[in-house]
Amino acid sequence: MWRRRLVGLPLGLGPVAKRRSEGLQCLFHGCSSDARLQIGDALSGAAGEEENVRVQGWVRSVRAQKEITFLHINDGSSLQSLQIVAHPGLDIRNITFGSAVEIWGKLVQSPHKKQNIELRADKIKLVGSCHPVNFPFKIKERHSLEYMRQFPHLRCKTNVFSSLLRIRSEASAAIHSFFKDNGFVHIHTPIITSNDCEGAGELFQVEPASNTAEKNDNSHFFDVPSFLTVSGQLHLEVMTGAFTQVYTFGPTFRAENSQTRRHLAEFYMVEAELAFTESLKDIMEVMENLFKTATSHILSKRPDDVELFHKYIAPGQKGRLEQMLKNPFQVLSYTEAIGILHRSMKTFKFEPKWGCDLQTEHENYLVEHCGNIPVFVINYPYDIKPFYARDNQDGPQHTVAAVDLLMPGIGELYGGSLREERLDLLQSRLKQHGHKDTYQWYEELRHFGSVPHGGFGLGFERYLQCILGIENIKDVIPFPRFSHSCFL
Ligand code: 4AD
Ligand code: MG
Repeated sequence: MWRRRLVGLPLGLGPVAKRRSEGLQCLFHGCSSDARLQIGDALSGAAGEEENVRVQGWVRSVRAQKEITFLHINDGSSLQSLQIVAHPGLDIRNITFGSAVEIWGKLVQSPHKKQNIELRADKIKLVGSCHPVNFPFKIKERHSLEYMRQFPHLRCKTNVFSSLLRIRSEASAAIHSFFKDNGFVHIHTPIITSNDCEGAGELFQVEPASNTAEKNDNSHFFDVPSFLTVSGQLHLEVMTGAFTQVYTFGPTFRAENSQTRRHLAEFYMVEAELAFTESLKDIMEVMENLFKTATSHILSKRPDDVELFHKYIAPGQKGRLEQMLKNPFQVLSYTEAIGILHRSMKTFKFEPKWGCDLQTEHENYLVEHCGNIPVFVINYPYDIKPFYARDNQDGPQHTVAAVDLLMPGIGELYGGSLREERLDLLQSRLKQHGHKDTYQWYEELRHFGSVPHGGFGLGFERYLQCILGIENIKDVIPFPRFSHSCFL
């Protein structure tokens, strides 16, 4: 039965099963005989009792008793490891915590309470030994996330980080499913671009390494200055000329010099754009639904992995998350938010003033004030938002139809807006920002079947921090990049 799960198709239809029945070599795992059984499948009972099983993985524990040695093997498919029962006669001398092994044996019901299934080993092969002294992780020790961060090339071997990576993978799948189920088309927006969508100047320039080293003239590989993208929004906006709902999910880059627990130089952003949209409400509805649907999906698919964080890393987060999922998100205007901050009588490091961007301390206060429920702040001052945000034409406190979603413990998770589709207003805004020539193509979109539209961007790492209660953004991405650090 487990063979069926290897390919996720009914028996007989899957390419692996077909190759096996035809006696061909199994290309999937590079093996010529029995296919590998994933430990997650063995433990879930999908495999049942089975002879001639082969597992591969890394040793998480070794416990020698008088006659028998028990090993626990993990292959990354589940948090729980598979117990291996090794009888005397099997050569396990050099097998230590962290070793890579391949084991053949019989999968049986376990007589022990701790697990349902165990593997009685017939043969154990040491594939890669692990230096017991130099290996930075010690058996039975609970290492802090901060400690593990020193070893980006090794931390996937810990239970905590492998749980994180499975959750990250599931979250990514949940987000794609949400968009697919709701009729959005996935667009691959470019990584190299000639625009600075956000206008904040936090750009990494792209040139061939040989160019920068050898040439001192002003020529560019692409003839124009080009950069790693800070957002795929403008490219998604192009697509709203032909598709009513689009999204993208990819890496974005910001040369921000901040070393905070919420900023990275390379992070993943989920962005969506909706055509024929005249109200921020429509955008906020998708933002809220995406958060709630994807989170519920992750909680149901990876309960053990999520529990590890909620139990040991961020106690209390489970309850906080339940509140977020259960309650409708709150909505405040920026002007109301400033009023709340003024009335708080609290001393902030940065005094809240109408016209200034909200600081983390302000965001945290607002979320607490609203009962630790996510809060949409809408209608920001015209002067602090990028050129594309739609003018509310409301003076004297002049605002644009922009929205940020503030989350407990995280602050800003999403940013979005309606986009300025009115050509005259857009032109004067571009002129004001000194962008008249750069964005001719953007202006041109307004001539050919242009429609009111809007969208948002969600910081994927901040999203993971938010659901798991992880303090530092560097602990939710496999290889964090930030100023003064690009290890590996
Ligand atoms: O608010 P931002 O800058 O919005 C945009 O880029 C829009 N163009 C998106 C759109 O409307 N399509 O970024 C969106 C989100 C933020 O709310 C935050 O969660 C995350 O991206 N983010 C970062 N995450 C990690 N490190 C950084 N340096 C981040 N900067 C933004
Ligand atoms: Mg923002």
